[in-house]
Amino acid sequence: MSDESSNGTAQICIDLFAGLGGFSSAFEESDEWTVYTVEINDEFDPDLCADIYELRPTDLLELIGLDREQIDVLVVLASPPCPEFSTAGNHDHWDFDTQTPIHSDARQAIALVYHTLGLIKALAPDYWFLENPQGRLRWFLGQPTGQVTYCQYGRPYMKRTDLWGEHPPMTYRRCQRGSKCHTANVEYDGTSATRVLGNTKAERSKVPLDLSASIRNAVDDVVENPPPEQTTLLARADGGNARQRDTNVDNGGER
Ligand SMILES: C[S@@+](CC[C@H](N)C(=O)[O-])C[C@H]1O[C@@H](n2cnc3c(N)ncnc32)[C@H](O)[C@@H]1O
Repeated sequence: MSDESSNGTAQICIDLFAGLGGFSSAFEESDEWTVYTVEINDEFDPDLCADIYELRPTDLLELIGLDREQIDVLVVLASPPCPEFSTAGNHDHWDFDTQTPIHSDARQAIALVYHTLGLIKALAPDYWFLENPQGRLRWFLGQPTGQVTYCQYGRPYMKRTDLWGEHPPMTYRRCQRGSKCHTANVEYDGTSATRVLGNTKAERSKVPLDLSASIRNAVDDVVENPPPEQTTLLARADGGNARQRDTNVDNGGER
């Protein structure tokens, strides 16, 4: 697997908790990106079969075979397991008043998310996305950066999904309660609603290709058309405003 895309730059996407690879599927389809999948279950044939809780940042860079500085654009996608955070079950694992875990599985689920965030922060990717169905993870990570519903990305099931992270400018598509764009929703149909997503657990938790594509397109757009360098508004003693580039500029005299 080459680490350089067809335009000669190293554009790397790491897919953590890759499962069937839905989250990174659009990156996989592109010649510009090299994808590395990490997953505990070897049935999914990941590039690295490992318990993410056991990994160090250097393990991920060794997988890629590059130093961080050699990677031109790094995107990390992460889909930590949701059963403890989903509002559909495991109610007896949580104290709802204090929003704290009271069961070892819930504790481990939180520790795994924070460990994942630690790996992400250590790699300092250009962009990262951590997804989970709307639920208890908000108790820990706060309001998500974006919210989507899968029916807006080609799925029959609504599935409200939260996306945290550092995102490029992008549109988050979501439908409204009562809309007719989806045929099933857990609120109306109970947990059986998820059956329309597939027969296996892995199929049901697969991130839609359209969502992956909208993330990749947003990253590609910002890589191809970087925003102008940031400017700072300087308040002037005379009450006027002067724009100055954020970088150190030798004024070379009065402005
Ligand atoms: C929500 S699913 C991922 C869905 C995937 N993003 C997709 O689009 O197909 C979570 C995955 O995390 C894996 N997993 C669970 N615990 C893990 C761990 N500690 N380390 C690595 N993978 C883990 C599961 O086997 C499962 O495939």
